[in-house]
Amino acid sequence: MNREVNDQGRLLIGGIPAHEIADAYGTPVYVYDVERIRHNARAFVRTFKEHGVPAQVAYASKAFSSIAMLQVAKEEGLSLDVVSEGELHTALQAEFPVEKIHMHGNNKSLTELEMAVENNIGCIVVDNFYEIALLTDLLAEKDSSMDVLLRVTPGIEAHTHDYILTGQEDSKFGFDLSSGQAEKAFQLLHSNERTHVKGLHCHIGSQIFETSGFTLATSKLFETMKDWRERFSFIAEVLNLGGGFGIQYTEEDDPLDLDQYALALIDEVKHQSEELSYPLPEIWIEPGRAIVGDAGITLYQMGSIKEIPGVRTYASVDGGMTDNIRPALYQAKYDAVLANKMHEPEINEYSIAGKCCESGDMLLWDVMLPKIEPNDLMAVFSTGAYGYAMANNYNRFGKSAVVFVENGKHQLVVRRESYKEITRLDLSYNP
Ligand code: LLP
Repeated sequence: MNREVNDQGRLLIGGIPAHEIADAYGTPVYVYDVERIRHNARAFVRTFKEHGVPAQVAYASKAFSSIAMLQVAKEEGLSLDVVSEGELHTALQAEFPVEKIHMHGNNKSLTELEMAVENNIGCIVVDNFYEIALLTDLLAEKDSSMDVLLRVTPGIEAHTHDYILTGQEDSKFGFDLSSGQAEKAFQLLHSNERTHVKGLHCHIGSQIFETSGFTLATSKLFETMKDWRERFSFIAEVLNLGGGFGIQYTEEDDPLDLDQYALALIDEVKHQSEELSYPLPEIWIEPGRAIVGDAGITLYQMGSIKEIPGVRTYASVDGGMTDNIRPALYQAKYDAVLANKMHEPEINEYSIAGKCCESGDMLLWDVMLPKIEPNDLMAVFSTGAYGYAMANNYNRFGKSAVVFVENGKHQLVVRRESYKEITRLDLSYNP
């Protein structure tokens, strides 16, 4: 993989030596190359534009939500997918245009729905019958209306980790197409004057490299749209095909370029709409990982090194599963370097451990690196998605800082959580 390195053998991030950022903000620190975020966003937006297809590229903010990040998404003209009050609140704080916000969730609470309705967000992606009842009652009470998409599970098994599979029938998300559930939900929403059904939504999973799952899902949704056009005179204005476009974490991953994913969708939607003489719907997508994943790098300081002769050498970083739970949760693999020794030969094999009290707190297994010494700076690549977003306070470690780099400058965009802030919600017990 291509890495920017200066003459002194130091890793550069967006043109800035990684050690300068570590010195300025401490470690662990998530560093985002904002140019890369923009590049990724533009690849999607441009491809739809070039092919003259009306589209919305909604950034799935679950991948990494912060005010600064949503400001960048807004600048790039993206729409936004939120799944909770917290994500919606962040969007409102970032002054994200409300009409471009879509709300997801398989168990939206009444307060979440109220927040969505009161703030006039663009659309709610309806997931289940309980939600239909809550939403339609709420709209009646508020004498209001809402654009909705119907989330369906098209029965596709994409090739990815089981925990991040979502489009198969046996899923907690959405209405099942084959059993008639989706049709019943559609009729409830379509017949209610307060819910305007704009179209269908599906999301088949995450970190997917092959386009076949997406095109199969598209054709399945068109089958349903054709059927509903004939039987209910319903024409979908929007077809939302979700996110899930895979990225490169290690050399083993061979993703497509982002415009290739978009192109596969465009081709299939055009093909289906011509075949069925169906008016071309707007294509909406919801990439999260593909926008921010490879734009993020985590910097750590190396500490203790433990050699078990003939077995392995553990080298520990000053973070771990609290800032990146993905290796422990999904056996996710990453690529790492010593940012201060980029010109030194990779002569030793190490396993990189976190500092949590848990044997499973490992970031990388059996990787070749230059000789590690305490205070070396480690950079782990492609940590921009589901890193900070899934950070936790296990062992009461504070959350790491987030820094944006662009135009040769670095700027703190999320402060490091101090140990004093860790107890800010705690109350004394006075029995
Ligand atoms: N749309 C929907 C409805 C989703 O459920 C998701 C992700 C996305 C879009 C964005 O997917 P992306 O483009 O980021 O793959 N924590 C896991 C990933 C969970 C994804 C959940 N839903 C991980 O770290 O791999």
